[in-house]
Amino acid sequence: MTNILMICLGNICRSPLAEGLMRSKLNFTKFTIDSAGTSGSHKGQAPDKRSIEIAKSNGLDISQQQSRKLVKEDFQKFDFLYVMDESNYRDVLEMATTEEEKNKVVKILDEPFPGEHLDVPDPYYGGSKGFENVYKMLDTATDVIAKKLGN
Ligand code: 4NP
Repeated sequence: MTNILMICLGNICRSPLAEGLMRSKLNFTKFTIDSAGTSGSHKGQAPDKRSIEIAKSNGLDISQQQSRKLVKEDFQKFDFLYVMDESNYRDVLEMATTEEEKNKVVKILDEPFPGEHLDVPDPYYGGSKGFENVYKMLDTATDVIAKKLGN
């Protein structure tokens, strides 16, 4: 089993979409996919309505997901910890306790665009265009990850 964790700040906008997209592209008998937030402030909540909507319009149902906070055990349980932006990257690296754990943390857009240091921007305070943009970026990134890991 290969275990993949998608991480953002609130675990209600970006990482639920990343989880839903990744799950749709990988064989569930070989991969476990989950998501978490660096902040626990939306703990127990369903994804943001706008994320549910953009997923639904692309044939994905993410409405049953529930926000949770990233915990130390996640660094052992998961093989890849994909973060959305530089701020997530710093927060997650701070929680890692060994080099091995640090090496598991990757900015997700480094997969399709290596060396460009791009962020998936936080869409929370913007409109639906921001969510479309996030969806497209994550669709591209998860395509590349699925190819790399061999579905
Ligand atoms: P996410 O978006 O990190 O993509 O889930 C956010 C959700 C909530 C907040 C910020 C970002 N917030 O400040 O409550």
